[in-house]
Amino acid sequence: MTTKTLLAIGAAALSLGSLTSHADPVDFESKVLPILKETCFDCHSKEHVDAKTGKLKKVKGKFRMDSPALMKKGGSDGDDLTPGDAAKSAIYTSITLPDSDDKAMPPKGDRLTKDKTDLIKQWITEGANFGAWKGAAD
Ligand code: HEC
Repeated sequence: MTTKTLLAIGAAALSLGSLTSHADPVDFESKVLPILKETCFDCHSKEHVDAKTGKLKKVKGKFRMDSPALMKKGGSDGDDLTPGDAAKSAIYTSITLPDSDDKAMPPKGDRLTKDKTDLIKQWITEGANFGAWKGAAD
């Protein structure tokens, strides 16, 4: 094999590598969970006392997101997470609604960037796989 052929094979392998890594499934615990913890758990996890303000934080909309089962179960309106279907998953639709919509999440503070909403969409479309994450036991 000539050096030129080897180089060509190397370049092809490299571009293939970047293509496949782009299509890697989204890892819940390292990619999605940190976003939810930062922007949603304040109002959608087990009732708790906020460490900073000392205020009691109740569960909003009867919707907890702090375990896979609770996220799938959903809150008062339901259809909060439908694996494989982001359009039927309010955890995705609510973060893409315009600020002016009552159901836009989070209801106050900064909205999520498109990079983050796209990541959550991809994770749901891929089947909402939680990996080894168990979340809250009760
Ligand atoms: C400051 C508190 C707060 C934060 C932070 C917050 N939410 Fe909410 N959320 C609410 C309230 C209040 C409701 C109930 C609204 C209603 O019933 O009209 C709600 C309802 C929901 C519902 C509907 C549940 C159902 O079945 O009725 C979804 C889905 C939701 N939130 C997703 C999210 C997501 C995703 C995030 C993070 C990006 C988030 N929320 C962050 C306060 C919050």
